[in-house]
Amino acid sequence: MKNSIAFFCLMFVGFAHSQELKSPDNQLQMIFELSQAGKPSYQLKYKNKSVIQSSNLGLMLKNNDDLLDGFEVINAKTTSFSNKWKPVLGEEEEILDQHNQLIVELVQKATGRKMNLVFRLFNEGLAFRYEIPTQEKLNYFVISEEVTQFSLTGDHKAFWIPGDYDSQEYSYNETKLSQIDVDKLDMNNGIGMKGPMTKSRIQSPVMMKSSDGLYLNIFEAAVVNYPIMHLDVNTKSFVMQSHLVPNAIGDKAYLQAPANSPWRTIMVSDDARTILTSKMVLNLNEPSKIEDTSWIKPMKYVGIWWEMHVGKATWDYAGSQNAQMAQDAELKPTGKHGATTVNTKKYIDFAAKHGFDGVLVEGWNVGWEDWFGNWKENVFDFVTSYPDFNVEEVQKYAESKGVKMIMHHETSGSVSNYERRLDRAYSFMKKHNYDAVKSGYVGKIIPRGEWHDGQAMVNHFNYAVERAAEYKIMVNSHESSRPTGYHRTYPNYIAAEAARGNEFNAWSVGNPPAHETILPFTRFLGGPMDYTPGIFEIKMSYYDATKKEQVHTTLAKQLALYVTIYSPLQMAADLPENYERYSDAFQFIKEVEVDWDKTEILEAEPGDYVTIARKTKGKESWFLGAITDENPRKTEIALDFLTPGKKYKATIYQDGKDAHWEQNPKAYSIKTIEVTAKTKLKLNLAAGGGTAISFFPL
Ligand code: NOJ
Ligand code: CA
Repeated sequence: MKNSIAFFCLMFVGFAHSQELKSPDNQLQMIFELSQAGKPSYQLKYKNKSVIQSSNLGLMLKNNDDLLDGFEVINAKTTSFSNKWKPVLGEEEEILDQHNQLIVELVQKATGRKMNLVFRLFNEGLAFRYEIPTQEKLNYFVISEEVTQFSLTGDHKAFWIPGDYDSQEYSYNETKLSQIDVDKLDMNNGIGMKGPMTKSRIQSPVMMKSSDGLYLNIFEAAVVNYPIMHLDVNTKSFVMQSHLVPNAIGDKAYLQAPANSPWRTIMVSDDARTILTSKMVLNLNEPSKIEDTSWIKPMKYVGIWWEMHVGKATWDYAGSQNAQMAQDAELKPTGKHGATTVNTKKYIDFAAKHGFDGVLVEGWNVGWEDWFGNWKENVFDFVTSYPDFNVEEVQKYAESKGVKMIMHHETSGSVSNYERRLDRAYSFMKKHNYDAVKSGYVGKIIPRGEWHDGQAMVNHFNYAVERAAEYKIMVNSHESSRPTGYHRTYPNYIAAEAARGNEFNAWSVGNPPAHETILPFTRFLGGPMDYTPGIFEIKMSYYDATKKEQVHTTLAKQLALYVTIYSPLQMAADLPENYERYSDAFQFIKEVEVDWDKTEILEAEPGDYVTIARKTKGKESWFLGAITDENPRKTEIALDFLTPGKKYKATIYQDGKDAHWEQNPKAYSIKTIEVTAKTKLKLNLAAGGGTAISFFPL
């Protein structure tokens, strides 16, 4: 539904052109301006208060005149848009895409080259992008930098991670913009592959809060055939400027008209919950390109995984020191290999018994003896299993138990090797009845010199998903560039890691208790995360008395994460025997759903707490998760999201009386009560704690 000329006004006060656009609810106002020198800029106001001051827009081109100034407006057109669509898997049954759009068509007088700026104003924020239309004067071009500015109005509090080209697996820093300093970070943080960084360069999404209580978020949507955008922060003027991740020879993006940049997004609200309910990023992505999506299914899974992370088993079969032996195909087993047929059958039995959809097996294929750190091109072939893992036998057993196997493709960052073998690898999967793959990119990228976040790698991650769709395969990528809503276009992209997951708690300083209260405001804005919650044996000293590492939450908070983290793919990450010992708490993981009709963000404050309730897709049951940071928290929740007049059985999984993430993380209690939409529930969260609740209609 389009109707035009909703907010059209021209002014000529000191500018060659000035034009405003308002959000559907009139709370946000964007002003586009073209200076007398033909330089485009924009500003953003929220409830009549400036949130982004006049900020430049433009592109720098290699071996060419830049697209920064000297422009004239040829045409400017405003339209309104309101449309509903249904995601294949999601947090809501239906999503409303309502926005007003302004397209400004520019021509650069001296060169005759054309560039369009497209602005979309939603109720919760602004999005804009550059479009290079088909034209005589510009066909092939190379972007050497994008000059998009975000001129902030003050020294806001920010939640940020360093602008590493290779990894986002950092915990967040909470500082004023003026205090951003990458050089001061403790880099002894467990991250295996760090790319270049500079002092005041950070990644997006960056979540901010102004001193007068405004929540602001800068991010991007629909990154396709373009590098990831980092942000250079001027810690004195509070102007952020786009920095695109380069390729091996320092260029940013190779494009041919017609072409466009990803959307640059600025979300603004005085209510933090609005940032979490926003569907802007999804709305800015193209609708599904997969016609028949019936094979795309939500999944809860278990797997041969945590036992490697806690050091009980290994991925390799012959010992990681035996690379030379592996070359000679003389594999002598160490006896610690996790991915054996026997062990896999145990996990299949466990999955079948407790109603899990899938079983992931890592370390099933040859190559792990020398998989990491050698920048070696051909490590894995993705089709040859170790002698003690029988693919056919596992297939038959899984089929007999009604459990789906999840394939693992660790590429060790050798993308050239993976792409060469991709079709054979996907065919092998289909032959053995695998519908889902977890891919991984631990290591420096090959082709050598590329970064995980450059244009070529963005294209690879998208390609792997597009190609998988042809095979009806769902993809869960680890160490990929962080998602920007592309799972709307390819809904088989069911999850990604692309942030610091629970695994860091097993073998590094870990994730501070506030971590999971920040992720919804940052990484999750781009799409579902395979965070791998559900760790019950919190302290690694359980496995080895000398170990100090631990999960930085209580056990109850691990349960709550199944609701506060949205993902249609969720792992029950701990070992089966640990679940058997806490079978009453495990009941919540068995029952919790992963695909939803409705999501209610009940409370949220970045870095402090999040409380979310979700209604199961197609069913009357609800689930609630409440989490807090290192501080204990008391709150009261009105259950008015439940259907009025209906009675529900609520099972409450909460922190025990003296629970504390560090001193007493495993203390929990469970109680069952009857509730209605009129009930108010008092919740009591321990330091680093949480509450998880299931509601079933009576
Ligand atoms: C890192 C991934 O995040 C993790 O889940 C996986 O087990 C290892 N790489 C090995 O591929
Ligand atoms: Ca990882």
